[in-house]
Amino acid sequence: MATTKAASKKGLNELFHDTLKDIYFAEKKILATLPKMAKAAQDDALKAAFEKHRDQTEEHVARLEEVFDVIDKKPVGKTCAAIMGITEEGAEIMEEYKGSASLDAGLLAAAQAVEHYEISRYGTLKTWAQELGLTEAVNLLDKTLTEEKETDAALTELAESAVNMAAEAA
Ligand SMILES: [Fe+2]
Ligand SMILES: [Fe+2]
Repeated sequence: MATTKAASKKGLNELFHDTLKDIYFAEKKILATLPKMAKAAQDDALKAAFEKHRDQTEEHVARLEEVFDVIDKKPVGKTCAAIMGITEEGAEIMEEYKGSASLDAGLLAAAQAVEHYEISRYGTLKTWAQELGLTEAVNLLDKTLTEEKETDAALTELAESAVNMAAEAA
């Protein structure tokens, strides 16, 4: 039984490291994408929300580097197909809805898909860090998880007010 337990711990260590590389790649991709979304946004509040989250994302990258340090690994990313797809869809929206009144609604939807992906990753990593007894990593991951959830909630609020305004105008 002890051997099985040790083997599964080893597996979880690798999974944790691999997933850390995935989200590290994703955060860097998001860091490069948010300024484009801020530039494209028509609504000032949405623009400001994207700019604020760009600054937070810089912190997210820095925190991940600290987590790599906790497990004695170099911060290296690994291509994340999921974030490539999600940001590609965002780029399509920017292109196809340029000049349309629906552009901001599309940007909000794209941004929420990004936040939900991050929330899923950070939730998983935090659980695994707890499992592995990496207390410092748990704290770092939790800080970012909280900011992703707050961003998602702020985007929901903006989406609801935008929908309300559109309904009033109709
Ligand atoms: Fe993030
Ligand atoms: Fe985020």
